[in-house]
Amino acid sequence: MANSALLEAAVKARAKAYAPYSKFLVGAALKDELGRIHSGCNVENAAYPQGTCAEAGAIAAMVLAGGTRIMEATVVGAGDGLVTPCGGCRQKLREFGSGDVIIHVCDERGKIRRSFTLDELLPASFGPENLSR
Ligand code: THU
Repeated sequence: MANSALLEAAVKARAKAYAPYSKFLVGAALKDELGRIHSGCNVENAAYPQGTCAEAGAIAAMVLAGGTRIMEATVVGAGDGLVTPCGGCRQKLREFGSGDVIIHVCDERGKIRRSFTLDELLPASFGPENLSR
């Protein structure tokens, strides 16, 4: 079961999303190795491909605060479909998280709809260890 502070942080972050083009608001929150929570929202851009996902914002906040490992993550969004992290974000999460990290996919109120391990979302992944020789 996810820590309610993690869910609340993602819901709060979603309220700050800048998504004038898609109107699809997303919030994300991560717990780091010290138990601290870092959150982010999607930030779109008039030059559409320059927009950034909520997960990317949360990862940047974690790195800025000195966090080095993702222990648990939450993504919140509305709609019928699950708001699972996009392919690029799965790889970004992988940089700081191991395959057994749990990612909760929630509705806009922070109710968990489904939880996945990072390995389920990104099987046979390539990470920093793959570069060690
Ligand atoms: N988006 C995220 O921020 N995270 C996800 O996990 C899925 C998609 C954003 C990107 C874009 O601003 C909007 O949702 C619609 O794709």
